[in-house]
Amino acid sequence: MQSQHVLAVVYVASSVMFIWGLKLLSHPRTARQGNRIAAAGMLAAIAATISLHTTEGHSLANVPFIIAAMAIGTGIGWIAARRVPMTAMPQMVSLFNGMGGGCAAAIAMLEMVHAAHNTQVLSPPAASMIVASAIIGSVSLSGSIIAFAKLQGLIERSFRFQGQNIVNTLILLSSLGIGTTIVASATTNPMLFALMIAVALLYGIAFVIPIGGADMPVVISFLNSCTGVAAAFGGLYYGNHVMLTGGIVVGAAGMLLTLLMARAMNRSVLNVLFSHFGESATGTAVAQQRVMRSITAEDAAVLLRYARDVVIVPGYGLAVAQGQHALVKLAQELERHGVRVRYAIHPVAGRMPGHMNVLLAEANVPYDQLVEMEHINPDMPQVDVVLVVGANDVVNPAARTDPSSPLWGMPIIDADRAKNVIVIKRSMNPGYAGVDNELFYRPNTSMLFGDAKAMLEAVLDSVKQL
Ligand code: TAP
Repeated sequence: MQSQHVLAVVYVASSVMFIWGLKLLSHPRTARQGNRIAAAGMLAAIAATISLHTTEGHSLANVPFIIAAMAIGTGIGWIAARRVPMTAMPQMVSLFNGMGGGCAAAIAMLEMVHAAHNTQVLSPPAASMIVASAIIGSVSLSGSIIAFAKLQGLIERSFRFQGQNIVNTLILLSSLGIGTTIVASATTNPMLFALMIAVALLYGIAFVIPIGGADMPVVISFLNSCTGVAAAFGGLYYGNHVMLTGGIVVGAAGMLLTLLMARAMNRSVLNVLFSHFGESATGTAVAQQRVMRSITAEDAAVLLRYARDVVIVPGYGLAVAQGQHALVKLAQELERHGVRVRYAIHPVAGRMPGHMNVLLAEANVPYDQLVEMEHINPDMPQVDVVLVVGANDVVNPAARTDPSSPLWGMPIIDADRAKNVIVIKRSMNPGYAGVDNELFYRPNTSMLFGDAKAMLEAVLDSVKQL
């Protein structure tokens, strides 16, 4: 078989591995394996390209440089992925994603420089693909870097002014206008192409900078989808099936995730991207003067130890406190006393998709104890104690009862319908949506104020003494 045929077969196999890997990523039990399979598919595609690809009968040049660059990139990626704490995962994903967008733009730029050097005239479809890849990849690069900086706390302000959406649209239209000129006039002027990229980079910054930090996971997922689309255009340009499939898979998965996150937050994607909700709302609510009941760790221990059925609702505060190991120890101690313990998982608890699944998996919680919101809710009236740990919005009954609430219509975990509720948090401060939580004032609710990890450890100590 000719080497080009072998290459084509490897590309098909790699494409299948991407799709298979993605399928396995849909369940925590198989996700690691899915990741490995997709990564192996990518490795096979890269290795086959380096060793088998030919252009006009010539093999790839600069192979030592390519391998050295890959070794450096792999080293940095490996170390970063191992060191990053789980709560900083969204910004790492954002940075890696930005690199993908930057690659797509750089490849497009290189093709334009080649075309100019060879005085080659690009056909309108070919020029459109390069232009699209460059613009989308550039927006993804600069937007992802801003998202990273916001989540990392390097940019704390969200620069906003009136008419910002109009100014941003004009910047985007300028970049698209230059791109259209390049395609229509069949020019291969690298300077004009570089200007188009510069304006697209500016748009990426202008687009992300006004968006509130808490909305960044949705933005990151959206930009991730953009990177996939940019790569897919590159695949179309080269007629490279594996690049095309990889790009489409990333583009589609990123867009689906964006839609699902927005839906679970009961907002439209446009609202998330253009209304600047997260930042302005956070921390603005003033707790009303109402009666709530505060208890001690010892009281909480008694309630939990003598319950038959306990449901734990983890939230963002558990991740901040890194209290997952203490939580699991408490759950195991309760189980030793014959208490049935389950974990109720809300799809947008925390700050990234699957945040609670990953957090609890880190502490080796058996998957069969994780129950999705829609499956646990019908059981709530029979549950003796719901232990809410660092969660707020995802248990706020206003989503069901108050049409004026920003949470109205969002599906929630019906903790308020249980016989008793214990809420562990540090204060009466609101959660991400910035609204007061009526659950905290219900007669069946007791507040245990303090850091989640410290409180869980205190409750565990008390349970052991009972
Ligand atoms: P939140 O509503 O954000 O509430 C978290 C609570 O944790 C806060 O009220 C805070 O209260 C408490 N907390 C913080 N640090 C703590 C600590 N060290 N110990 C104990 N408690 C601590 O969280 P949630 O219920 O998980 O809801 C998630 C929210 O994020 C939803 O509104 C969702 O729409 C939004 N969101 C989610 C995602 C994804 S994909 N998951 C993406 C974007 C936005 P104190 O300050 O009083 O302690």
